[in-house]
Amino acid sequence: MTSRFTLLALPLLLAAGAAQAHDHAPAAADDAPAVVRDCAVDVQGQPGKKFSPSRIEIPATCQNFTVRLIHTGKNSKEKAGHNWVLTTTADIDRVMLDGMAAGPQGDWLVPNDARILAKTPMLGGGETATVTFPVSRLKAGESYTYYCSFPAHAEMMRGTLTLAAK
Ligand code: CO
Repeated sequence: MTSRFTLLALPLLLAAGAAQAHDHAPAAADDAPAVVRDCAVDVQGQPGKKFSPSRIEIPATCQNFTVRLIHTGKNSKEKAGHNWVLTTTADIDRVMLDGMAAGPQGDWLVPNDARILAKTPMLGGGETATVTFPVSRLKAGESYTYYCSFPAHAEMMRGTLTLAAK
């Protein structure tokens, strides 16, 4: 009985795997890095807890890099705030958990957290903020993640950032 099930199920599993791989291809194309000009990029914090773009690659020639965050939603920062917080991908989950424990007074971030490489203030709908940071903080080949530290956004509202090789 068991072996018969396995024989019947195997092609279905293979087909499911193939379908999944196929479904993933368009998502990867949509996920192309933002086009960066003048060492700056606009990032939208959108309804649905999404960043657009969700990938940024900083050109190796940039000395400083500027992110302008635009909250395109309508909710107040207390109800559904967005900020842009950059850490290494290795640090992100600990920074998030420690930030949650730190509470709302510092936008759900630990004050002076050395793991945070750059951040904007928390914004409400329609607001904009800019952060500029030295690219010397980053290493080519390292994976960085930006996220929104607002509770219930922090786990899914994320994007990846890399520094291009010279
Ligand atoms: Co948010």
